[in-house]
Amino acid sequence: MDTRPIGVFDSGLGGLTAVRALRRILPAEDLIYFGDTARVPYGGRSRETLLKYASQDVRFLRSFDIKAILVACGTVSTTSLDTLQAENDLPIVGVVEPTCRRALAVTKTKRVGVIATLASIRSGMYEATLRRMDPAVEVVGRACPLFVPLVENRRYQRGDVVIETVAREYLEPLRGTGLDTLILGCTHYPLLVDVIAEIMGPGVTLVSAGEESAYELKRTLQAGDALSPPDRRGATAFYVSDRAEDFEETASVFLQEELHHAAQRIDIDQY
Ligand code: DGL
Repeated sequence: MDTRPIGVFDSGLGGLTAVRALRRILPAEDLIYFGDTARVPYGGRSRETLLKYASQDVRFLRSFDIKAILVACGTVSTTSLDTLQAENDLPIVGVVEPTCRRALAVTKTKRVGVIATLASIRSGMYEATLRRMDPAVEVVGRACPLFVPLVENRRYQRGDVVIETVAREYLEPLRGTGLDTLILGCTHYPLLVDVIAEIMGPGVTLVSAGEESAYELKRTLQAGDALSPPDRRGATAFYVSDRAEDFEETASVFLQEELHHAAQRIDIDQY
């Protein structure tokens, strides 16, 4: 048993979709969340910059006595995970492997689609991981750079003409390619499930990154006998690198609960 907290980080607010999944799947665990709101979005940045940011994010989380880290950010997971794991002596789980494993368990046609940020698609990491796990799989990838700003501006509901138009433009080319499984490889996309499902149709199963990585983290902690006792109730602390008030306002969308004076601002450049 180990009651130390789990660190979770993301470029900003999107990782709160993973926090929601963690709270459901591991309700006894304490969580420390860091959202790099001063430097979001990560999705269009270079590998070097992403590694620098991600290393600082990890150093901040490690200023607490944590037992593991969940990299909720798809962009960091696709570009920097190996280096972070090599440089740190604690379990670090990213979103790519668990999501790919789930997608391969679901697909019958062995044609899997991936939508994610520009940096994630450019990295080729989802495709490489899927092929390593199953060389027979065919992968279609597509970057959807406008999804993140639209979700953050609350334009994510069905019936919203802006998000529906953008989503059709991104997703239409994926229809008719025979894919039966679509990986939502970015923190923000679970909020678009209804819009995406309507365009892709009932024959396509959507696999969401945050949820699968929460299960993976649970397995990792279980294997190391590092879960908290099941009879306790975990708490979450929130840290951000820009205005806490702005974070709290939008966080309610991702967490589906109100936050009041719950987040604290830190200076990430000190790490
Ligand atoms: N968190 C990022 C991801 O999952 C999306 C937001 C951003 O571009 O920073 O890829």
